Amino acid sequence: MRDQTRDKITAPKVRAAKGGPKLKMITAYDAPSARVADRAGADVILVGDSLANVVLGRETTLTVTMDDMVHHTRAVSGTKPAALVVGDMPWLSYHVSVEDAVRNAGRFVQEGGAESVKLEGGRKRLPMIQAVLDAEIPVMGHLGLTPQSVNAMGGYRVQGKQLAAARALIEDARALDAAGVFSIVLEGVPDVLAELITKEVSAPTIGIGAGAKVDGQVLVFHDLLGFGEGQVAKFVRQYADLNTVATEAVKRWFHDVETGGFPSDEETYHMPEEVTRALLRDVGGV
Ligand code: KIV
Repeated sequence: MRDQTRDKITAPKVRAAKGGPKLKMITAYDAPSARVADRAGADVILVGDSLANVVLGRETTLTVTMDDMVHHTRAVSGTKPAALVVGDMPWLSYHVSVEDAVRNAGRFVQEGGAESVKLEGGRKRLPMIQAVLDAEIPVMGHLGLTPQSVNAMGGYRVQGKQLAAARALIEDARALDAAGVFSIVLEGVPDVLAELITKEVSAPTIGIGAGAKVDGQVLVFHDLLGFGEGQVAKFVRQYADLNTVATEAVKRWFHDVETGGFPSDEETYHMPEEVTRALLRDVGGV
């Protein structure tokens, strides 16, 4: 259940947070991670399509489906967090048609219990973003290194390092802002460009690998907590090593099992003594 000491955070509240204290966004994919995020004081919980990488063990986000995303979004929203819940629209759920975009965004709300959705892309995706907004669903934009474009980008590369690309990203941000998105994620862009965009738009910007001069920050839950696999990106700061903590705990349990130290008497169910005695008489002793 929701932390009753915190007011519910809504998309308009996030939109109005520009210029205030930094927004704190983190991903979550299930009830335990959502509860950790909310207890820690997240403003926004993103059910990211990074689900594909950090939970489902896939190489890219491209294979995650609407059904996968709705399933995990329902687990997160079911914890009734104070944080705003954003469902991340997966690849192809909004690329084919405006109708698809609205219907799939609607699934995040109706079936997943999300209060808003995130779509990757700039002016190219404007008709879809506009239609979702027209259906009364708040939209978070996502510009820069957009992982769903990994094949088109030729890999996970910092975006907007050259003048033309930087100018194009500023135009994209202006267009999303004018359309009425409630915030914009800036991923994998140089700090100066992120700062310029942040000054240029009225919606708060939330950075990941975009430097410090943005309105908020987001990290992937498993990266932040050292619960992922392989090398993390340069912009990740790891605040825990859950892989080591968890592996050590499981090893200790296995050792206790092997050596007969588990379970103890306190960890064991017992029956009344007279029942035990009667049972032992019946079967001739255990
Ligand atoms: O899917 C995700 O986790 C994201 C964040 C990295 C912004 O899109």
